[in-house]
Amino acid sequence: MSYVVTCLGKPWYVGIWEGQDYLSNLERTQEDIKLIIEAARDLERKFKAKVPTPYLQGQTLFMFFYNRSLRTRNSFEAGMSQLGGHAHFLSPQDVYTPTLPEDMEPYKTEAISDVARVLSRYGNGIAIRIYADAAKWHIGRGHRVIEEFAKWATIPVLNMEDDIFHPFQSLADIKAALDVVPNLRGKKFVVSYAYSGGLKPLAVPQDVAIMAAMMGAEVWIAHPPGFELMDNIMQKVKELADRYGGSVKVTHDMKEAFEGATFVYPKAWSPKGFFPPFSADGKVHKEEAMEYQSKFKNWIVTMDLLEESGKPYYMHCGPADRGQEVTDEVLDTYEKSLYFEEAENRLHVQKAVMSMVMGSRYE
Ligand code: CP
Repeated sequence: MSYVVTCLGKPWYVGIWEGQDYLSNLERTQEDIKLIIEAARDLERKFKAKVPTPYLQGQTLFMFFYNRSLRTRNSFEAGMSQLGGHAHFLSPQDVYTPTLPEDMEPYKTEAISDVARVLSRYGNGIAIRIYADAAKWHIGRGHRVIEEFAKWATIPVLNMEDDIFHPFQSLADIKAALDVVPNLRGKKFVVSYAYSGGLKPLAVPQDVAIMAAMMGAEVWIAHPPGFELMDNIMQKVKELADRYGGSVKVTHDMKEAFEGATFVYPKAWSPKGFFPPFSADGKVHKEEAMEYQSKFKNWIVTMDLLEESGKPYYMHCGPADRGQEVTDEVLDTYEKSLYFEEAENRLHVQKAVMSMVMGSRYE
């Protein structure tokens, strides 16, 4: 299917989901994900062969980064230029900050409903990243900001990571996994906590668990007590495992989880009970969360752990905190690390989805 082109010379995937938003992989099926990966592989092959792919000629993607980024920003920018368009970086502090109705401040903020409609008249897509401090550490608020953009924009809205989902990361991750093991059904795929001195969102582990379950893997979630993923996301992960022939198991033992795994994905996330809407008093407790998570510095990936576990593929979305989440030795020398493949795949999967939702089949 990769080599089928339309009568207008565009590959089959350009414009197949024209006008659709991409907020979460939960809105997609296994079949959809396989189409994205097939399209991404076509774009990867063309990128490496220097074949031009001007499928979004003259188009503009507006990108709001409420949080910092290396991979996401640069892969979207490079991706748009490789597709013949342009990605426009917008720091929310440098415009009237697009804001939910309850947080408006005169002449400092602008209603998302208005920002989304103005930008819809200038370009072809709006992408947003917002979580943590930018979303006031109220878990779910970042996702609500992105939903508000999607409600009002008349062009596709793309989620570049919020406080619940990181859909393009997990697409890149699952492509990296499928590139080395073509069928994940029945394979042990571990999503594990690893210690960091920073507070990171739940978006990546939740999205990776969703994606691994969608591929029929035997999903293991490993974390210390207090680092549970959101109940509604765990429910979805279980439903996906049932639908696609996989399974889900939760453990508090990193070694048990790693034993015999095909893939391990150990990374930090925050203990959600210290943040609303999960904290008992409805308040944000960042200091207490940091203090609590500092008890789990032994949740680090070392060469010994990987070797004792049977040498699984090592995965991490990046940036990994060296010496905390993982040792330098693993990142720099472990032969079954997919760290840089995952980063590279951000480019290919995002180009695929942008071609699908921002492209047109008939122009
Ligand atoms: N994985 C990821 O989203 O990386 P950045 O924070 O560098 O964009």
